[in-house]
Order: sequence, then structure tokens, then C-alpha cells
Amino acid sequence: MDFKCIFKEGKVYKALLNGEWVESKSAKTESIFSPVDGALVGKVQAMTKEEADLFVKSASNAQKKWATVPVNERADLVHKAADILYKEKEIVADILVEEIAKNKKSSLSEVTRTVDFMHFTAEEGKRVVGESLSSDAFPGFGKGKVSIVSRVPLGVVLAISPFNYPVNLSASKIAPALVAGNAVVFKPPTQGSISGLYLAQVFCEAGLPAGVLNAITGQGRDIGDYLVSHSGINMIAFTGSSKVGKHISKIAGMIPLLLELGGKDAAIVLEDADLESTSKEIVSGAFSYSGQRCTAVKRVLVQDSVADKLIEILIPMVKKLKVGRPKDDADITPLISTSAADYVQELIDDAINKKAKLLIGNKREKNLIYPTVFDNVSVDMRLAWEEPFGPVLPIMRVKNEGEAIKIANDSEYGLQSSVFTRNIDRAFEISSQLEVGTVQINSKTERGPDHFPFIGVKSSGMGTQGIRYSIEAMSRSKAVVINLK
Ligand code: NAP
Ligand code: G3H
Repeated sequence: MDFKCIFKEGKVYKALLNGEWVESKSAKTESIFSPVDGALVGKVQAMTKEEADLFVKSASNAQKKWATVPVNERADLVHKAADILYKEKEIVADILVEEIAKNKKSSLSEVTRTVDFMHFTAEEGKRVVGESLSSDAFPGFGKGKVSIVSRVPLGVVLAISPFNYPVNLSASKIAPALVAGNAVVFKPPTQGSISGLYLAQVFCEAGLPAGVLNAITGQGRDIGDYLVSHSGINMIAFTGSSKVGKHISKIAGMIPLLLELGGKDAAIVLEDADLESTSKEIVSGAFSYSGQRCTAVKRVLVQDSVADKLIEILIPMVKKLKVGRPKDDADITPLISTSAADYVQELIDDAINKKAKLLIGNKREKNLIYPTVFDNVSVDMRLAWEEPFGPVLPIMRVKNEGEAIKIANDSEYGLQSSVFTRNIDRAFEISSQLEVGTVQINSKTERGPDHFPFIGVKSSGMGTQGIRYSIEAMSRSKAVVINLK
């Protein structure tokens, strides 16, 4: 990459502080190895808590001036960064392939989706407007007062993203925050931080003023708590596991939080569903990026009367999934780590011990888990409730839609659900009873398009993501009241 901002030397990547790419004074780094073959992808700085102070302070200083830059100029900068990212899409996608073992096609699509997200956000930022209210709507005030309500930035947003979308789920925090006039301290996932640093580099190259975006690397367990509870942070936008999200909500204090966490999305299949298209949606929903998506279909609740037929159509589709290396565009690629694969294996073993019927899979080579489908999964099995974040699909047979709704809602999670049926009235009735952020009718569960609201309830999150929603979450109302004489 022929960049002005030099963010790496050999395989050692630096962190972005106040417009400069810097190394940690501790001289410590984190080595990032590829989940595919264990090769070293690069080393990132292991910043210390003392250094974290500098990242927050610099952002805090820069934000004051940034907030005064006209919104159309802030938007232009985000557009410019998007254009640079588009130009460099192959390089960034190749890093994703190596660093998080996402196949090349999906890696490219993550990058181009991010480019679209950034352009859309830049435009939407100009359309977020305030309002004016007259006092005469409230009894006893007459027309004596007018409240002029505008949107103002929150200050410094701490953006923390997960390994599975280190470019997209970072930009989906950074771009709305910036366009709304905030500065950002960005902490990418450690496995994914090189991809995240490429994104930061793109903003640096676009000419973002020093300090408006600082990118700090290091293990969440070492610097995470410190950053989250730092008095200089005014808002946290976090995507990751429910465990870490809940921990953050306990220690963050009284600052706004946007939390997008885990899921256990159910696909409810009714007896009148189109089983061919339902199977396609389920297979794609369950197995893309080897099931490492918060919105993956993580259980099928099918009416008993059509369960055999569904399985007959679905299993040949699973057999066609290509298992192998991300650079060969395999559908199923090695999981992010050996410990992630160990956890998936635990859930598989538990289902086998409790007599679920294995239809396909339960084959493993190191951290590569072959696509696995179980029938007759019951509520006493861990697979019915836990999020594997791997290519394992439990099928649970239900007598009727009432039982499906009950099992769907008994989950601690509430991200999304799908309902497959030809009867739109039934679909709406079931949707109204599901305790989730979004119900998809006749489609797999998924986040996009990215201007739609993306909502997690229960252990799946707090607040609403999605372009306009994120900008609103990263700004607040400010009222000035004119008192007329
Ligand atoms: P994770 O382990 O929770 O990590 C997420 C981020 O939090 C990483 O950047 C991590 O840094 C950081 N972190 C760890 N401990 C922290 C602490 N004490 N304070 C602050 N930050 C801390 O999640 P993951 O394994 O990367 O991602 C998988 C999970 O994310 C799944 O549960 C998935 O469902 C969920 N997810 C949800 C959504 C959604 O939109 N609902 C989207 C994607 C993923 P390190 O990497 O340095 O540990
Ligand atoms: O992993 C969580 C992501 O927010 C899911 O996004 O549905 O576009 O894969 P996606």
C-alpha cells in the first residue's frame, strides 16, 4: 500500500495516536497468528494503561475543534476515507483472509459493504436534524416560549469491535461517531487488529485531523476495563460476546452504551412453508463464515409433520458446502482459535451423549470443524441454548407454533428469529409474540441492509444500531429555549 501514513514496519504494526503511528514504550507486542496455518500475520502494539490515557486525552482535545467543523465537511472526509478503502479493497480483504480465516469472497464483500456503509453514513449525517417546539401545546404556557432542539455530539466514543467483522463492525461505529462530531478511541479485537489498523490507516490517509480517531491495540483483558471506565470516555459502542458486554455495563458507570451481543437465532418452520427455499435460507444462515456470526441461524424449530421432508432437502445442501481454506473460497474454514473449536466440540459431544441424532458432521481437524447437523435436539441439551459460534445446527421438532414460540422465547438471547410460512397472518401473529429485536419472514436472520435498525434485546444487547439509529445514539438533544416577551 502506497500510503503517506506509515503504520507498519515489516510485520510490526503501530498504533494511531494523535495523527502519528506509534510504538508502545513498553516495547511489548501481541503476535497475531493466522487461524488457517498458524503463520505469523504480524505483531501489534500491546499498549499499557498509562499509554491508554494518552489516547483518550488526545481524542478529548481534538474533539472540541472537530465538533465545530461543518457537518458537510465531516461527511466529505468520511466519503474520502470510503473511496480510499474501496481502492484498497483487495489488500484489506487479503488481510481478513489471513487474519480471521474469512473466505476471500466474503472478505471482499465485508470491505465493499463497509464502503457503502461509510458513504451512506456520510449522507445520513447531514440529514439528522433537530426541531423546534412551541410552548402553547402545553396547558398554561401560551405562546411565550420556543424550544430549539438540536443534535450535539457526545464527546469521545470508545468503539470496541469483535473478531468476526473487524472492518465492518469497526467502521459501523467509527463513521457514525465521526459524522456526528465525536472523536473516537478505537480498540479493535486482538485477532482482527491488523484489519482494524488498515481501516484506521484509511481515515488517516483521508486527512482526518490528528486525534479525532486514535486506534489503540492490546488485549481487552489488559486494557479493556481501564478504557471502559475511563473518565474521558463519553460513550461506548461495543459489539462482542454477551459475557464481556454485561461486564462492561457493570463497570461503565453513567455513560450511554450501545451493546450488540450474542444470539441464538431460531428459524421457525411451519408446516405450510416452502421447504426448498426455507432450506436454502437455513443453510446459508447457519453456515456462512462457518457459523461465526451473531445472526447465524443457531437452531431450527420445525413442525414435526414436515421435519423429515425438511431434513431430506437440507442435508444434501449441507453436503455441498466446501470445507477448506479461506483463500480457496471454501464455505467452511478453520474457526478463529483452537479454544473456539474446543467449545464447539463440547456442545457436539454433549448432544451426542444425550442421544441427539447426528445427521452429518462431527468431524474435526484442529480448529476446522466440518458442518454438523443434529436432529431430535431436546431442551436438556446445551446445543438448544448455547451459542456455538461454529458450524453446528441443531434441529428441534415441535408439535405446533405455540411450542416453537415458547422454546424460542425461553432463550436468554433476543437478537433475531425467522418464521417460514406461506401464511402472512400467521407470520405476523408469531412475530408479535417473539421476544427479539427483529423477525425475518421467509428469510434467514441477518443484519443488513445496514440502514435497517439492528436491535438486540435480553442478553443480545442494548440500544439500536443501523446508520441513522447509530448517529442518533452517538449524539444527544440539546435545547435552547427562547422566552418571548
Ligand atoms: P469478545 O470476546 O466479547 O470480544 C469483543 C471485543 O471486546 C474485542 O475487541 C475484545 O478484545 C474486547 N474485550 C475483551 N475483554 C474486554 C474488556 N474487559 N473490556 C473491554 N473490551 C474487552 O467477542 P468476540 O469473540 O470477538 O466475538 C464473538 C461474539 O460477539 C459472539 O458472542 C457474537 O455473537 C458477538 N457478536 C455480536 C454481534 C451483534 O451485532 N449482536 C456482532 C458480532 C459479534 P480482545 O480481542 O483483545 O480480547
Ligand atoms: O456477527 C454479527 C454481525 O452483526 C452479523 O452481520 O448478519 O450481516 O452477518 P450479518
